[in-house]
Amino acid sequence: MNVKFDAGTGTLTLSGRIDSNNAGEVEKKISEELSGFSGEPPVIDAEGLEYVSSAGLRVLLKFCKMFSTKLNIINVSNDVYDIFEVTGFNELLKVRKKFREISVDGLPVIGGGISSIVYRIDPDTIIKVFNNAHRVYTLSMIEDDQRISREVFLHDIPTAIPFDVVKAGGFYGIVYEMIDADTMSGVLRKNPERLNELSIKAARLLKKLHTTEFDEGTFTDARFYPHKMAEVVYKRELISSEDKKAIDELIDRIPYRNTFIHSDFHPNNLLVKGDELILIDVGEAGQGHPIIDLFISYGHFVYLSGLSSRNGDHFHERILGLSAEMLHASWDIILPEYFGTSDRELLRNYEKIISDYSSIINMAVLRANAAGLSQDELKKTIDGIMIPFRESMTTLKPIEGI
Ligand SMILES: Nc1ncnc2c1ncn2[C@@H]1O[C@H](COP(=O)(O)OP(=O)(O)O)[C@@H](O)[C@H]1O
Ligand SMILES: [Mg+2]
Repeated sequence: MNVKFDAGTGTLTLSGRIDSNNAGEVEKKISEELSGFSGEPPVIDAEGLEYVSSAGLRVLLKFCKMFSTKLNIINVSNDVYDIFEVTGFNELLKVRKKFREISVDGLPVIGGGISSIVYRIDPDTIIKVFNNAHRVYTLSMIEDDQRISREVFLHDIPTAIPFDVVKAGGFYGIVYEMIDADTMSGVLRKNPERLNELSIKAARLLKKLHTTEFDEGTFTDARFYPHKMAEVVYKRELISSEDKKAIDELIDRIPYRNTFIHSDFHPNNLLVKGDELILIDVGEAGQGHPIIDLFISYGHFVYLSGLSSRNGDHFHERILGLSAEMLHASWDIILPEYFGTSDRELLRNYEKIISDYSSIINMAVLRANAAGLSQDELKKTIDGIMIPFRESMTTLKPIEGI
């Protein structure tokens, strides 16, 4: 048994066994370690705690009663968790279980990109490991991702069931139900004749997302993501502070809604299981006006893929796993189905609005993808978007009636 207090982090570490043989000693050590400490209530780290008997629970109870708020106890093993549960201690303390460790060595990789790798654990589960190499993922971001996935699933949106947050090779990951299915991109590469059917399904799923309400504040305000994209471009000195301000105001003029916004709706985030499309990668989801999803998707399906095809680098097409022609053709099916009209004039107007708004995201994605470009070249590309956008944005407002 060991008791140690780190005043720097405010963490009290308990390890070994606490039972009738050493309960008195543990109690004494805790008060010695904490003598003179008067900061925030300590966090108890139970990483090495193997067992707590009833005598040990009495010591913990006494300790908890010294504070007016509930103490956090982290890294609790399953055995100790069970003890807390049957004795009601999980109401006295804020108990967080230890993360399971999963070894991904030798597991088959089934997907992933710049910031994550997806491994198949067994026929029923996969693990998405968040790699901090290109982007910092804090534990709370990953727990948020898991929470979003859970909410989505519980609101009857077809998605992979999320299980626990785990540790894998020094990174955090989330275990999900394994969906034994290919992505929409993968299916269309092999079976291009399914374009019409799957695009219509994608449009209907998008509409379902945009009509599914969540309690206000369940997810972040979806305007957060475009704001963040504008910030990225501004920080890289690719747009002026006036342009940044105008874009922020434009985003803020989009009214709030409590409906779902995926923020990354494209054919590589859709799995085709039999007749059904299943939505994955919901970590950036928010709540807001549908125009936000529409302009983000337009960037993927039409603008960015088209540009990457014309440039000849085919970068964005590779990310989405489909040719620019196929993606554009899919979009041309999605749009009338989504809006429930085949009136060409109306659709042209809608597409113009969506396309104008998409400049916000396109600039940021182009910056992220332009590893080889010099600042001057990049600035020229961004100007190519920003100059016409400056004109259109003064009168721009979301499509009415959606
Ligand atoms: N639950 C799942 N079942 C089967 N395959 C999955 C599942 N989740 C992800 N994948 C595969 O891994 C890929 C990447 O997953 P995704 O969550 O989109 O990660 P990223 O954030 O890197 O885009 C998907 O395109 C899909 O091929
Ligand atoms: Mg994805």
